[in-house]
Amino acid sequence: FAAHQFKNEPLTDFSRGQARDDMRRALQDVQAQFGQDYPLVINGKATTTRGNIVVRNPSKKSQTLGTVNAATPDLAAQAIDSAKRAWPQWRKLPVGHRAEYLELMAAEMRNRRFELAAWMVYECGKPWKEADGDVAEAIDFCMYYALAMRDLTHALTCDYPGEENQTYYRSRGVTVVIAPWNFPLAILTGMVAAALVTGNTVVMKPAEQSSIIALKLFNIARDSGLPTGVLNYLPGNGEEVGPALVRHPDVEIIAFTGSRAVGLEINRLAAEPVPGQVSVKRVIAEMGGKNAIIVDNDADLDDAVQGVVQSAFGYAGQKCSACSRVIVLSEVHDIFLERLKAACESLVVGPAEDPGCDFGPVIDQEAQTRLHDYIAIGKEECQTIVAGDVGKLAKEGFFVGPHVFANVEPESRLGQTELFGPVLSVMKARHLEHALQVANSTPYSLTGGIYSRSPKNLQRAREEFQVGNLYLNRGITGAIVQRHPFGGYRMSGIGTKAGGPDYLLQFLLPVSICENT
Ligand code: SER
Repeated sequence: FAAHQFKNEPLTDFSRGQARDDMRRALQDVQAQFGQDYPLVINGKATTTRGNIVVRNPSKKSQTLGTVNAATPDLAAQAIDSAKRAWPQWRKLPVGHRAEYLELMAAEMRNRRFELAAWMVYECGKPWKEADGDVAEAIDFCMYYALAMRDLTHALTCDYPGEENQTYYRSRGVTVVIAPWNFPLAILTGMVAAALVTGNTVVMKPAEQSSIIALKLFNIARDSGLPTGVLNYLPGNGEEVGPALVRHPDVEIIAFTGSRAVGLEINRLAAEPVPGQVSVKRVIAEMGGKNAIIVDNDADLDDAVQGVVQSAFGYAGQKCSACSRVIVLSEVHDIFLERLKAACESLVVGPAEDPGCDFGPVIDQEAQTRLHDYIAIGKEECQTIVAGDVGKLAKEGFFVGPHVFANVEPESRLGQTELFGPVLSVMKARHLEHALQVANSTPYSLTGGIYSRSPKNLQRAREEFQVGNLYLNRGITGAIVQRHPFGGYRMSGIGTKAGGPDYLLQFLLPVSICENT
């Protein structure tokens, strides 16, 4: 298998002075580019509109990064038409050629690693390390899917006396990619690269909050020589252009990552046939989580505290993989809580540009307000263990300090709602069975973890923990392409795992040909 040659892109070591200098320089260079106006790109043509998305730095809300033109439903239809017209040529290209485009894109991302990371620091409030990891993951997706697609080109043969049989894969057609802002380069690149390498053409609709970094990806793809119209850049307000994209009769695939509510709505709209439509649309949706870590009575508590803190508060808890519930067995509950509190109190919240911060702001005003509302509920209904104050930062940007609540009822709002922020609920369990029952008591099944020294209990978690990605004795975020194919089930997703061997199959049609010989 070609995919066996795959190697993950190493992360930047920011303890090296050179790496820190490179990143500082990139931040300055990117800052010098603030204030530009960015057009849409449909069929290779830059297009401006009347609607604008103003992109702000969530660490410093007075700072405008630029404005991005917002698509209309008419332009969405034009972008789909462009992708439709580019498809017949694109799908005929030999797989190796399409894979090479992905490899060229990866090479360019490697060259521009610090610049791309710097854009994410400013646009999405990603701390340096997280932004660097985002670029590395984007590179991984390109390289891995390029190899995985080469593996899929070997037609499956099954001959029989008197007949020759072959099964092979064809592309499907126009793919709409609707991407989130929290892994603004990696997840967008993953969905786009998978669609392209499988011979589909793409209309890419980034999240409003991360439209500039998405344009950087578009430009990298264009500069790799991608034929006109194969990829179209269509930023816009989701509510306005999302339905136009999803309902369009010429769309074959919708690849989405984002919230459960939007994912379900996409699924519903895509299921309703419209005049002129000839296929049942394929929806690939990675949605939310309400992920739990169980801390067993015999767990290594130092490891557990560190893993929980990192999983709950990394990137301010804004990962779909983030830990938002910790379920602690009763014998160690109080001591764990005490240590967790001490660890949270040492967390440094600050502007994402600041290399010393543990986490930065949340993405926007709406997120900040929603989190404040849930924090108020937590203070009223539960025991407040940590209520991190961000002081003066609150005026500067969309900062929310770390919050930990204990005695959270598993069925309560705090216990069930995906909050997507630095708010952690602690629950006490009588025994492992109870802990697993609580862990499995939400509609989500994305990530989960357990800290335990008992092989029997770890085995039980393997069998009974209802999640797509289970982590034993480690944190539950930071899935790595190929090593940890990522994605959940139940209300956490429709489809198979990003960065895994079967992901590309969703973008393909298997066709069987039998010849009478
Ligand atoms: N893949 C990311 C992680 O594992 C979440 O989207 O953290």
